[in-house]
Amino acid sequence: MKNFNFHAPTNILFGKNQINQLPTVLKQYGKTVLLTYGGGSIKRNGLYDDIYRLIGTDTKIIELGGIEPNPRLSTVIKGVDLCKENNIDVILSVGGGSTIDCSKAIAAGVFYDGNPWDFVVNNEIKLTNALPIVTILTIAATGSEMNGGAVITNEETKEKLGFHTRLVTPKVSILDPTYTFSVPTYQTMAGSADIFSHLIENYFNQTPDTMVQDGIAEGLMRTVLHYTPTALTDPTNYEARANLMWASSLALNGLTGNGKTGVWSCHPMEHELSAYYDITHGIGLAILTPRWMEHVLNDDTVERFALYGHRVFDLELNDDLYITAKEAIKQTYDTFVKWGVPMTLPEVGIDDSLLNEMAEQSVKHSNISTKAYVPLSADDVLAIYTDSLTPMTF
Ligand code: NZQ
Ligand code: ZN
Repeated sequence: MKNFNFHAPTNILFGKNQINQLPTVLKQYGKTVLLTYGGGSIKRNGLYDDIYRLIGTDTKIIELGGIEPNPRLSTVIKGVDLCKENNIDVILSVGGGSTIDCSKAIAAGVFYDGNPWDFVVNNEIKLTNALPIVTILTIAATGSEMNGGAVITNEETKEKLGFHTRLVTPKVSILDPTYTFSVPTYQTMAGSADIFSHLIENYFNQTPDTMVQDGIAEGLMRTVLHYTPTALTDPTNYEARANLMWASSLALNGLTGNGKTGVWSCHPMEHELSAYYDITHGIGLAILTPRWMEHVLNDDTVERFALYGHRVFDLELNDDLYITAKEAIKQTYDTFVKWGVPMTLPEVGIDDSLLNEMAEQSVKHSNISTKAYVPLSADDVLAIYTDSLTPMTF
């Protein structure tokens, strides 16, 4: 295990009616709030009204609604301007990863002298300060509610890139699973695929002897596999939504990734798909993940894949590890199919015309060609994209 610094300072308020603590929470940070939200789901499910009812009149609320899935730089800039014009004290971010990520870039952008895109592209830029962020999470997926990462899309350059700073880690996150009852089927499976992918990305890593991290990841993967079908067929099942919500936060708050080296594989490949085609992040990951697994299965990785099949899918460990490993990859694919995920690129509107360009970009924008679990060249990425054009056969 490598040295690390585990730092997960977000105060989590988990469970039904935790929103009642919102007035007290916000008061710690000031009286002028930027309320950020997405395309309107919070107005349809009553959360927006609850917030106004609770906060009352002694708090001034400025709104930034309409934050897009795959949040855009132009919206970040709009938010920074609103904060500066209104002397905002705290951002109340209500929604999923997109709203929270956009809020993080705004929070840091307020104290940055220049275009926020600078610090998204160049992670060497030292940020000095950020507005405090309080979140109310409405979809279990990214883990953004408990980490310092954010992913922003520059719609002009077709780049989707991430930055990370502890300055923007939410101070408080309200996690009430009932707010996820209204998440539609498509977004529920996308969210679960994203959680699952965060665990996979950390699990398949070259660092040996990380039994703690791996055991937690296996437990969380089993949780996602267990509860996602229930959340899909019975969207108001509290226990299913609660387990998925907590899994979302724990999958990407450092618990399963700290102490390991290297970089992720499927996320850099997926970010190009959503940068070019604006597809749903989790769906792109579900499509790519089993193809990536098949692509990197070799004599060095087979043991890991077999162990994954044994511990996560309860497969018998065959003497021929390839048999178990290949079955584990099939189970991964079949799981997404059973959830209802469209499992080929054409089904999400992607044909072969830009695969080459996206493959080049994913290598340019990340270190997958040198530091991934199995290093991936642009040709490797192209092969994985190409495999994703048609259904897998086993
Ligand atoms: O915009 P509204 O109307 O709210 O609708 C959203 C949106 O259409 C809807 N939704 C969310 N909660 C709902 C709901 N609909 C009904 N009821 C509710 N309770 O779901 C749609 C997707 O929302 P979004 O915020 O985009 O989803 P998600 O949480 O999956 O976030 C995806 C973004 O996060 C980035 C992704 O790349 C993508 O841009 N990521 C952020 C990470 C991080 N900060 O750590 C890591 C991830 O790997 C990921 O890259
Ligand atoms: Zn993700």
